[in-house]
Amino acid sequence: MEFFLDTADVDEIREIAAWGILDGVTTNPSLIKKSGRDFKEVVREIAGICSGPISAEVTAMDTDGMIAQGLALKADLPDNVIIKIPCTAEGLAATNVFNEKGIDTNVTLVFSAAQALMAAKAGATYVSPFIGRIDDTGHDGMNLIAEIMEVWASYDISTKVLAASIRHPTHVLQCIQLGAHTATMPAKIFRQLMKHPLTDKGLEGFMKDWAAVEAAGNA
Ligand code: G3P
Repeated sequence: MEFFLDTADVDEIREIAAWGILDGVTTNPSLIKKSGRDFKEVVREIAGICSGPISAEVTAMDTDGMIAQGLALKADLPDNVIIKIPCTAEGLAATNVFNEKGIDTNVTLVFSAAQALMAAKAGATYVSPFIGRIDDTGHDGMNLIAEIMEVWASYDISTKVLAASIRHPTHVLQCIQLGAHTATMPAKIFRQLMKHPLTDKGLEGFMKDWAAVEAAGNA
């Protein structure tokens, strides 16, 4: 399973990349705003830190505009940058064009299994269902991942399911159990996934006993 970081903060990306488990990065206009940096400059820097797919999102609402923006991003930025496209009819048409040109895409803002399947049929490399934002409406976002994985099991689909809008470590565990190909999450969740109180407690005990071994001159 691929683990992506959902951020445009290069310090966080360096921190998690150093763990040797980072497979890619997703950004969106809100994350670029939060970084306070120039869009292309920050995406270029991210693409230099992580060799996996780096999603850069188009902001045009029409197909021609999305295609023009996506081609400009591909021309200006490193090869590992892929084009993130909203899951609209216009976005589907742009995805189809990028697929024909051999350009990888991530179709985002997916909220139903039907949308996911249509994006896959249009040739998306990744589809991004948003879990947390469904939870926010009082429904269970994880049901969407389960539905999509059920559909994927019935057909020969090469598009990867990229679970997004992940809010806590349990979301990640459930995505793993459901067989989602990829999960994108904030750095905070990477840290939470690595933390266990029994690891800390066990380490504390080992260190205390080792200090006694050293004090006895037996180290
Ligand atoms: O990459 C988009 C997605 O992960 C957004 O998450 O927390 O803003 O719903 P969130």
